[in-house]
Amino acid sequence: MIYSHIVPKVIRPFLLYVFLALLCNLAYAEPPYYNCSDTSNNYAGNFTLFQNNLQDVLLSLSSNASVSKFYNTSKGNDPDGVYSLYMCYDYVQIETCRQCITTATQDILNRCPNATEAVVWEEVCQLRFSNKNFFGQLNVTGNYVGLDNMKNIPEPEQFKSVVKETLTNLTKRAASNLSANMYATGEVPFQDMTIYALVQCTRDLSADQCNSCLQRAITDVLTCCYFSVGARLPSLSCYLRYELYNFYDASEAPSSTNGQERSSGGKTGMMVILAVASACLAIVLLGSCIFCLMRRKKAKKWESEIISQEANIVDHYISNFQHTNFQGRYDPNA
Ligand SMILES: *[C@@H]1O[C@H](CO)[C@@H](O)[C@H](O)[C@H]1NC(C)=O
Ligand SMILES: *[C@@H]1O[C@H](CO)[C@@H](O)[C@H](O)[C@H]1NC(C)=O
Ligand SMILES: *[C@@H]1O[C@H](CO)[C@@H](O)[C@H](O)[C@H]1NC(C)=O
Ligand SMILES: *[C@@H]1O[C@H](CO)[C@@H](O)[C@H](O)[C@H]1NC(C)=O
Ligand SMILES: *[C@@H]1O[C@H](CO)[C@@H](O)[C@H](O)[C@H]1NC(C)=O
Ligand SMILES: *[C@@H]1O[C@H](CO)[C@@H](O)[C@H](O)[C@H]1NC(C)=O
Repeated sequence: MIYSHIVPKVIRPFLLYVFLALLCNLAYAEPPYYNCSDTSNNYAGNFTLFQNNLQDVLLSLSSNASVSKFYNTSKGNDPDGVYSLYMCYDYVQIETCRQCITTATQDILNRCPNATEAVVWEEVCQLRFSNKNFFGQLNVTGNYVGLDNMKNIPEPEQFKSVVKETLTNLTKRAASNLSANMYATGEVPFQDMTIYALVQCTRDLSADQCNSCLQRAITDVLTCCYFSVGARLPSLSCYLRYELYNFYDASEAPSSTNGQERSSGGKTGMMVILAVASACLAIVLLGSCIFCLMRRKKAKKWESEIISQEANIVDHYISNFQHTNFQGRYDPNA
């Protein structure tokens, strides 16, 4: 960059760090999360045929999402067959489910264009496909943790034990009562607050498998994040989440600030706006600092140059950010 010599060397790394930190922290907290694996490179079948089958299967999932919150289907035969299923978290209205699955099918194709196995977790649903038949099979590898709220809880050990007990009780309910769609929510008091928790399994699992999936999810989330006031653990065949606000009852959820349902892309837009706004604030602050530092020497004519240089850096990171998978997630199996 032509003007980079005017930014003092010591300040450059800070500048970079501030932008990256702002962008990554926001990304870290927000779905969608992805896991794409395997690519066409070592694929045994006819990949064109696989992709055609995948298109058909995703279409059929999208259309079923207007009538059901869970569906699994397949098309084709090995080695070109596609197996796929989705699950909407049971608290959403069916129309929200439909929108979420529509978004999920687009996101998974965009993010995992050459994958033979992939999964995406959106705000209120998850969707998965594979070239192998995974229906009714438990797979607890590759669990992710999404931190909702980076704020730490006071007395984390006590919080951890209450959360653990709550999630364990919910797991028993979800796994034992199949007529409740392998889903359970619960509220427990903690100090002067309330913990709201949710667990759910995909309905192709047996009760035992659901139990194992959630037990592992509880272990993973409490290993990583017991200090956080809220977290979610998206797994291949189950999901859990807890918060200090009621995220599963739309009529009681706090307005505007917390955990509202994501209507396709709206929240992503909001996230970008937030990132840009924060970055701009940082630019103004840093810009003023740099300006003051250099003012004694020459300076005044540089002001506009610094601003345009920093605008370039921000453009660069924002556009990179939009084309890169989210970094910095906790993966206990990595
Ligand atoms: C792969 O499948 C496509 C679509 O069915 C077909 O047109 C193509 O000939 C197949 N390729 C091979 C190598 O079999
Ligand atoms: C659900 O998908 C199946 C194919 O797997 C299709 O036959 C059926 O019509 C779909 N149902 C709806 C309501 O779209
Ligand atoms: C859905 O999965 C179950 C196994 O859990 C399987 O028996 C059923 O055939 C699958 N449905 C479809 C449409 O493939
Ligand atoms: C997907 O595969 C095609 C053909 O093999 C290749 O040209 C393309 O770069 C791949 N895309 C990604 C994102 O790996
Ligand atoms: C579990 O899922 C991962 C990722 O999709 C896959 O690579 C692995 O082979 C699966 N393991 C089993 C035992 O199915
Ligand atoms: C099972 O779930 C159904 C539907 O949510 C509920 O009406 C019923 O009371 C539950 N049974 C038990 C034993 O919890």
